[in-house]
Amino acid sequence: MSELSAGAKANDLEAYWMPFTANRQFKANPRMVVGADGMYFKLSDGRDLLDGIAGLWCCNAGHNRPRIVEAIQKQAAELDYAPAFQMGHPKQFELASRLARMMPGDLNKVFFTNSGSESVETALKMAIAYHRARGEGQRVRLIGREKGYHGVNFGGMSVGGMPANRKMFGSLMTGVDHMRHTHGIEGNRFSHGQPPNGAEMADDLERLCELHDPSTIAAVIVEPLAGSAGVILPPKGYLERLRAICDKHGILLIFDEVITAYGRLGSPFAVNHFGVEPDIVTTAKALANGVIPMGAVFVQDKIYDAFMTGPENMVEFFHGYTFSGNPMACAAALGTLDTYEEEGLLTRGSELSPYWEDAVHSLKDLPNVIDLRNMGLIAGIELEPRAGKPTARAFEAFLKAYEAGLLIRTTGDTIALSPPLIIEKSHIDFAFGTLRDILKSLD
Ligand SMILES: Cc1ncc(COP(=O)(O)O)c(C=O)c1O
Repeated sequence: MSELSAGAKANDLEAYWMPFTANRQFKANPRMVVGADGMYFKLSDGRDLLDGIAGLWCCNAGHNRPRIVEAIQKQAAELDYAPAFQMGHPKQFELASRLARMMPGDLNKVFFTNSGSESVETALKMAIAYHRARGEGQRVRLIGREKGYHGVNFGGMSVGGMPANRKMFGSLMTGVDHMRHTHGIEGNRFSHGQPPNGAEMADDLERLCELHDPSTIAAVIVEPLAGSAGVILPPKGYLERLRAICDKHGILLIFDEVITAYGRLGSPFAVNHFGVEPDIVTTAKALANGVIPMGAVFVQDKIYDAFMTGPENMVEFFHGYTFSGNPMACAAALGTLDTYEEEGLLTRGSELSPYWEDAVHSLKDLPNVIDLRNMGLIAGIELEPRAGKPTARAFEAFLKAYEAGLLIRTTGDTIALSPPLIIEKSHIDFAFGTLRDILKSLD
């Protein structure tokens, strides 16, 4: 009998290598979640923890939602799996049609993945293959942006611009370059919503076009609002200008909406919110409310159509995952969309946004707060780093918030908040009251 089956190691923390976690610190002082309902996690010590980050920006409808639970239970008993290649099942088509109707403009074709990282890889491959299919096979370069986060696979990591996520992994993909980021622009601190300055930062794309020749560039990928690097909002006019430059040079524009899609900004997608239509949109996270892993890539009709040539018995795009559009994920996503629609969650952020914004900016007078940023139901609270100890102050805030019953997330010295969209004003009061006390207490 193995040690594990004898129960000897059932609670041993050693075997699991945790992702994006300080493993040794965690294992010395574990923070264990054992249940969740509505706005709260239940901890192993019996305490409730207000979820200030929707899990990881994914549980937009909150936790333990009946529609989603029922949909999964029913699906598991009806059709557990269907082969993803050369076979289909009805819920894939229903979900794709429904998503295409929700998404504005020509973004009417939907490809399913299982994560944000996979959505990004899919989008990058589509972009390069699209140009090749149209006879512009020299367009192979990909442009990202400094401070960008596009997941952890090689393509996404290469176009991403977060040094810590790149430095340990060798030379990454070739043929990639980066525009400058838009963080910390003079006059933008403590802006309410979109910052006023910096639209001209989009012209950095022209610099790269000049350097590489635009005819070699396949696509530009940006997060319309960057979350992982610390909640960086697009300056007014910036996304419009990127769109115009891409149009001028025949470059595809990809919006990585892995955190912004499905209501986070107060609109269904950033595409609606900013009124700028890219050629490709990547999504994941809140598509199935974080309950079952799922991602979706939206492409304009012209991209899909470019592949639909050649003999009809041939596979048109040599790409896909065993779990693309699997029945359980589709059922969870359909239950999620039902919940979003019935409860008006995809636009609830815009109703609550003024209250949220006031709460965010009420922290302005506190020590070490050097910037506050907000949009929809997102907040970025940037703290002055401690001398010689970057990230320490924010991480201490995280631990103190956890003790006080509030889950926040930190990246660098920025605290990020992105609660479930079912949040009530009383939760907002608790979250910001708690943060106020914590920030006052930090040296
Ligand atoms: C903009 C963006 N793209 C991609 C990803 C990667 O998603 P996943 O962790 O599901 O692979 C994330 C995750 O936070 C993200 O914020």
